[in-house]
Amino acid sequence: MSTLNFNQGSKAIYLKYYGLLEKRRWSMDEALNWSQITVKTEDKELLEMFYVASLIETYTFTTTPNFLKQHKDKPWIIALQIDRGYEECKHGNALWRYLEAQEYPCNDTKISEIQDVPDPYTEMSLFERNVYAWLSEVETTIFYRKISEQLIEPEGKKLLALISQDERVHGAFLYDTILLELKLQPNLFADLQGFLQAYQDPNKESHYGVAVGSETFQKIRAWASQQGLNEEVGGFIQQKVNNLAKEIGLAA
Ligand SMILES: [Fe+2]
Ligand SMILES: [Fe+2]
Repeated sequence: MSTLNFNQGSKAIYLKYYGLLEKRRWSMDEALNWSQITVKTEDKELLEMFYVASLIETYTFTTTPNFLKQHKDKPWIIALQIDRGYEECKHGNALWRYLEAQEYPCNDTKISEIQDVPDPYTEMSLFERNVYAWLSEVETTIFYRKISEQLIEPEGKKLLALISQDERVHGAFLYDTILLELKLQPNLFADLQGFLQAYQDPNKESHYGVAVGSETFQKIRAWASQQGLNEEVGGFIQQKVNNLAKEIGLAA
């Protein structure tokens, strides 16, 4: 694939999303009324999800610098990655701040533990990496929305809804980047099918289990699956993959 063609295409993607990202940027202070947060015992179990999610969000401290080093020759994609990394940092910190306001016991030792987990993305091509990142953004969009729907405390509901919407935008520009690569190199479509297959492996993203504890990680997966997350993610992805096939002229 020609880097020149990729850069031209990704410039258009950046310009499409840059304005949108700027326009919908929210501030942690203004979006939430922090002094109004009260502890709700009904939310206790859901707070563990916040905690694990906050740790996973901080993994961007590791993955984003690696991405920047590996793709220095692709300025527009770098810009999107920086915008995305900025938002993931904000998500992690806002969740952390929310947990503190809820008097949830959290400490900062896990932050360094999660950063020590080897970054599985560094071994991947840009295409493979984008596919996994896209799937994970789709999943987190739905995951945060589902917790938001169940949480009783209203400020936390607001925070999760905002984060879910950010993840949706991240998923959208990753989808566009995947489409760009497929247009430039249609034979990648076969690889895409393989990545989707691998993503259905219940042990996917098990690297997070190393830091947060595999038991905790599995518990969260089980909760999400009870909420119908897998079906919703699967249905959405299938429809988008059909669109991708159509866009590159593979559909029946
Ligand atoms: Fe995030
Ligand atoms: Fe994201």
